[in-house]
Amino acid sequence: MPSDPSSRTSSADLELPPGPSYPTPFHYFRELRKDPLAYYRSLVEEYGAIACVKMWPRRQIVTSLPHQHRHVLIDQIDRYPKGITFARRKDIGGEGLFFSEGELWKRQRRSMMPSFRKSALVELVPHMTDGAVAFLGRMEKRVGEPAFNIAPEMAKLAMDIACRAFFGCDILDRAQSLHEALWASSQYTGHVSTNPLAPPIWFPTKLNRQARRALQTMYGAIDELIAENRERAGEDNVLARLNAFVEDGQMSERQLRYEMWTLLNAGHETTATTLAFAFSLLSENPTARERVEEEADALHGRPPSYADLESLAHTNRVVRETLRLFPPAWGTGRECIEDDVIDGYRIPAGSIMTLLLFVTQKDPEFWEDPERFDPDRFLPERSADRHEEAWCPFGLGGRRCIGEDFAMMEATIALAAVAQRLELRLAPGAKVEGQVYGIGPMRPAAGLPMTVHRRGERAGDAP
Ligand code: HEM
Repeated sequence: MPSDPSSRTSSADLELPPGPSYPTPFHYFRELRKDPLAYYRSLVEEYGAIACVKMWPRRQIVTSLPHQHRHVLIDQIDRYPKGITFARRKDIGGEGLFFSEGELWKRQRRSMMPSFRKSALVELVPHMTDGAVAFLGRMEKRVGEPAFNIAPEMAKLAMDIACRAFFGCDILDRAQSLHEALWASSQYTGHVSTNPLAPPIWFPTKLNRQARRALQTMYGAIDELIAENRERAGEDNVLARLNAFVEDGQMSERQLRYEMWTLLNAGHETTATTLAFAFSLLSENPTARERVEEEADALHGRPPSYADLESLAHTNRVVRETLRLFPPAWGTGRECIEDDVIDGYRIPAGSIMTLLLFVTQKDPEFWEDPERFDPDRFLPERSADRHEEAWCPFGLGGRRCIGEDFAMMEATIALAAVAQRLELRLAPGAKVEGQVYGIGPMRPAAGLPMTVHRRGERAGDAP
């Protein structure tokens, strides 16, 4: 921290946080893109919990402590909109809940929140159970197969559940093309977020053409799903609930499409990645896996339901611990629009804020033996003294993930459903490692090769 900041008369007298300088943003992004997680980790190691990356014409302030995240995302939320940090991503997701701001965001959040409250989720859990049971059926057919990458299977599972719960239909026939389109669009957003001179989406580059094709596929499918949903009147799912706002003139048709894209996009890959990591971690930690199996066995063969969630407490802690070690949303960004001070450092208006949630979640100040997989660290007696915001995989404050409870329930139910009958084993030598491509979400590096076994089958047994 700078010397005695309280003696200064105005924030203009304060120093910027320490950090490196780059002649242009290109030099910085070239460095960052190689391995964003390693880059940011080294920044924190070298400069401390708050750093400033200086480059013309802006600077980037990087924070890694829970009270700093709290300052930006909760206490001073009006000073820190998403702003320029998410601007180019609107090419794909429009003004959906993830990207919108101000009055539009407030109105949309108010309209959507009732569908995602715990009390409303009771109606959506059967979709999770159905999706998990269908997944179990697919996996049972793969018992005895050589190791295969589990990540795409998890994507299919999460996409299936998202479509059942959000659109009210089973779309496994379209899941692959939708997933590929979402992937292509994330390649685009990853590229434009780290290339300040990336041409606008209408400019005919190869990547832009690919992104436009992905947009057609995604929104084409969403239009179909909306039309099909309207034909099946009287159902209860998120789309039907939002459609009621369109019918009474409170939401435009265009806005509905953006929101459905947002839910599909924000709500499937994150959970899929979490599940892929969770199964891998359980494979490496037999004691934790056996406890998940004990909880699953207590259901006596019945698929997990809403009423069972309370008894799946250890399974839920496995999900929490997975999200601590491998947060798909490993960081987030904001734009500072009014001069501010954090920890005695000057934060000038126009700064880009980067909040390193993944660093916070492994900070030894808050987490004992932070690299260790230890779901019991979330037992109430071991969490009481921990900083409330040290676990932040769903963000914080007013813009905290609207799907948090949905995702936690979905992942818990999927883990329990599989554990009732099967065991997923990581292939020998496979490493559980997170990697970030572009500056997209954290994904398993090089996939996660696993084999499927019936419960109780010993290693080396014939299938
Ligand atoms: C493990 C799964 C998930 C993780 C780790 C995750 C993470 C996050 C994070 C960190 C944010 C805040 C971003 C920021 O402040 O900049 C967020 C926002 C959001 N998430 Fe999730 N999410 C997950 C699942 C879901 C699901 C299942 C849905 C769909 C229901 C969803 C929909 C959204 C939406 C719409 C927002 C924007 C909320 C707003 O700004 O009001 N997410 N998510």
